[in-house]
Amino acid sequence: MAASTWHHGVTARYWAEFNTDGPEIDYFRRYVEAGQPALDLGCGTGRLLLPYLRDGLDVDGSDVSADMLALCREAAEREGLSPNLYAQPKHELDLPRRYRTIFICGALGVGSTRAEDMEALRRVHDHLEPGGMLILDNEVPYADASGWKYWLTDECETLPQPRRPPGKRRPGSDGAEYELRSRVLDVDPLEQRATWEMQAFMWRDGELVAEDEHVLTLTLYFKDEILLMLERAGFVDVTVRAALTDVEPTGADDFLVYTARKPAELPSAGGHA
Ligand SMILES: C[S@@+](CC[C@H](N)C(=O)[O-])C[C@H]1O[C@@H](n2cnc3c(N)ncnc32)[C@H](O)[C@@H]1O
Repeated sequence: MAASTWHHGVTARYWAEFNTDGPEIDYFRRYVEAGQPALDLGCGTGRLLLPYLRDGLDVDGSDVSADMLALCREAAEREGLSPNLYAQPKHELDLPRRYRTIFICGALGVGSTRAEDMEALRRVHDHLEPGGMLILDNEVPYADASGWKYWLTDECETLPQPRRPPGKRRPGSDGAEYELRSRVLDVDPLEQRATWEMQAFMWRDGELVAEDEHVLTLTLYFKDEILLMLERAGFVDVTVRAALTDVEPTGADDFLVYTARKPAELPSAGGHA
């Protein structure tokens, strides 16, 4: 089954309108400050990227969704900023620059299969300078009780969930009103994959002016799988911490942050300075 994401059309607009804040911005910032240039892989509408650019940090962005990137660019240009933004799936990452830091916030396993994520990590490794750092966050599969229950066969057989009834509309800064309605279509515990549907609606002056529907595939990872994937991609000094506190994780932590380093180049053998 091909992977897909729902970050297009009205859903992308919703992200640009309402997902502009969060503790990840300060958390990832210190890694970017310590190592530039940096790449925000799966940057979306620029929730992290825009504040960093505003602060004069040297950060590029990449995302599979041209709609998310277009909204990110519009917001950047309103502030006189002109970031390098690239529309590419992460497993086909192929950029002209090499980076001291690459960060992946909320984007590992989102819209990608396990094989694609593995290839993405290899490409991240290729795009780092020797000694460069990767930082990524990820929720464990049991983080969301409502989704975790579908790993059990009896519960899984009740899927797909019914569509949600109309809910609350959120007023956007552009004068429109928005609503998202999502539901779980399928969970495959063997593949560790959840498939979700998103309906997105946009109204102006009470009239429905746009409506779309997309499917998101989520690949779910346990802690040790990500550690192994990072090592297999060639990373060293791999760490895992409780997000976003940096303490040693316990079974009670369901949101984790991983750091990994590309090895520094060894000095060439036999050279006489
Ligand atoms: C949950 S959002 C996170 C956006 C941003 N990093 C943030 O924290 O605000 C996930 C992002 O991953 C992007 N995405 C989904 N599938 C992708 C893929 N295969 N390759 C690259 N980006 C992808 C989506 O378009 C979306 O912008």
